[in-house]
Amino acid sequence: MRPIQKILIELSTGKKYPIKEVDDDFHTSLGIISKKEVASGKSLVTSSKGQSFILLDPAFPDVAELIERGPQVMIHKDIGLIIAKTGINKDSVIVDAGGGSGMLSLSLANICKEITVYENNAEHSRILSKNIAMVGLKNIKLKQQDITKGIGEKEVNLITLDLPEPWKVTALAEKVLKVGGFLVVYLPNLLQVKEFIASTKNTAIKVLETIELLERKWKIDEKIMRPEFEMLGHTGFLTFTRKLG
Ligand SMILES: C[S@@+](CC[C@H](N)C(=O)[O-])C[C@H]1O[C@@H](n2cnc3c(N)ncnc32)[C@H](O)[C@@H]1O
Repeated sequence: MRPIQKILIELSTGKKYPIKEVDDDFHTSLGIISKKEVASGKSLVTSSKGQSFILLDPAFPDVAELIERGPQVMIHKDIGLIIAKTGINKDSVIVDAGGGSGMLSLSLANICKEITVYENNAEHSRILSKNIAMVGLKNIKLKQQDITKGIGEKEVNLITLDLPEPWKVTALAEKVLKVGGFLVVYLPNLLQVKEFIASTKNTAIKVLETIELLERKWKIDEKIMRPEFEMLGHTGFLTFTRKLG
């Protein structure tokens, strides 16, 4: 699969189209954008039906929202907290498991030096590999392996675990993390959090905090300014730990 080259946005509706071929005409419900227009480098282009479009180099969220969804993906509020609390940057080496649809792995890959993703399910690996190709990042490596059987990477700055039994990974993580590196575990159920925390006893992995982050959207227009009646309830608990020793 070719990575997404451009994002086209209909000005009248806000509808977005991904463009993978920049050397071809592009068809929309509001007319055709000629290949000359697509390749022009202009950010405001017009279709054969006279409709205006914005043509952009894609920002990461434009592409991430188009990934194929298999297993439940982690959402922005939780991904954002991981990035903020661990301070990962262009020098960071990361391991993520299980990869699932890749929302977390790709969001981390967008920032870090390199990331290795473990995913033991063949169908989920297929989805993830397709999503990696679509996003076009080159610093992400997929291993179709069970992470509880071993972690090949060394001197790792961050390990993220979004899988049901992270306590089976604690001892392996302790071996491959750099001193000062983070292990962050995402779990839906507090009983799992308890079991994970128990697994860190007598190791160099020290528990920093467990956080549940709630997000509430607001309805804002001329006459109404209030919280939305419905909000996303529970997603998961994030437990932050660090190798200190
Ligand atoms: C909820 S999904 C992860 C979603 C991902 N964080 C995202 O944002 O798209 C959990 C994944 O972990 C995988 N998994 C479970 N146990 C695993 C293991 N021991 N090793 C590798 N992958 C595992 C499952 O197959 C599943 O795809």
